[in-house]
Amino acid sequence: MSKKFAVFGNPIKQSLSPPIHQKFAQQLNLTISYERLLSDKKNFAADIEDFFSSGGDGCNVTAPFKEQAYALCDKLTESATRAQAVNTLYKNDSGKLCGHNTDGIGLLKDLTDNLGLNLGSANIIILGAGGATRGILQPLIEQNPSSLAIINRTLAKAQILAAEFADIFDITTAGTDSIPDDMPQPDLLLNATSASLEGRLPISDTSIITKNTCCYDLSYAAEPTSFMALCRKAGSVSNHDGRGMLVEQAAQAFTTWTSQEVDTGELINGFEDLMS
Ligand code: ATR
Repeated sequence: MSKKFAVFGNPIKQSLSPPIHQKFAQQLNLTISYERLLSDKKNFAADIEDFFSSGGDGCNVTAPFKEQAYALCDKLTESATRAQAVNTLYKNDSGKLCGHNTDGIGLLKDLTDNLGLNLGSANIIILGAGGATRGILQPLIEQNPSSLAIINRTLAKAQILAAEFADIFDITTAGTDSIPDDMPQPDLLLNATSASLEGRLPISDTSIITKNTCCYDLSYAAEPTSFMALCRKAGSVSNHDGRGMLVEQAAQAFTTWTSQEVDTGELINGFEDLMS
């Protein structure tokens, strides 16, 4: 029997989730429907209820509803609790609405399985202290890095986030315009700000970037993002956008709903086709 999935967001027409999930279904010879559904803040809860009461098997949630989805759930996974945001919803056997967050594990899979990074002894710097950063901190911390720092335009927001995770890691914080000289050079520099989406740069001081810094933008685009261009100019030879993370977080959602594993490499390599 065909399974019914969807992604809720606003805007939503840019979402690549439908073609990604259809490719996963093809790999497994499954028939699914996967729709883009536009919602708004006022109607989001009712839209989710309608989706499940009309036979929906599972849905993804994208901006700006991840926090609202988190608040709606009867049950949350640990990653959703830490992220305070949900991107994957389903109902359990008792009909309870369950929320999971696959963004962080999706990023981690791309960094470790696809890019081959060993984060176990790495120095990591994250730019940004919003929801995207909160969503990736737990799986990064679980890798036991040497150091983890959050640099943000608004220092206070970085400090609040560091305090939230103080029970599991000692995160260093700095303001974008006051990066201390003794901050370890990052092996991995992640851009989790929304600056790239606006074509802006998240930092002006690029002295933390060396040729050995792996630079990763959680945003993705057909062309290299402004952050990737900045890092390349600063000497980094390893620059990536978030296309692998997008496909990996989708794979984790698909497996959550169907209990079946999918092949992500084929989609990441053919990502240009998905965007066209
Ligand atoms: P998201 O949920 O995508 O993380 P958010 O919660 O609005 O979105 O957070 C956006 C992040 O990008 C914040 O860390 C923001 O910095 P501030 O906390 O100072 O607002 C950062 N950001 C957005 N535009 C930026 C820019 N032009 N330069 C630097 N940082 C920027």
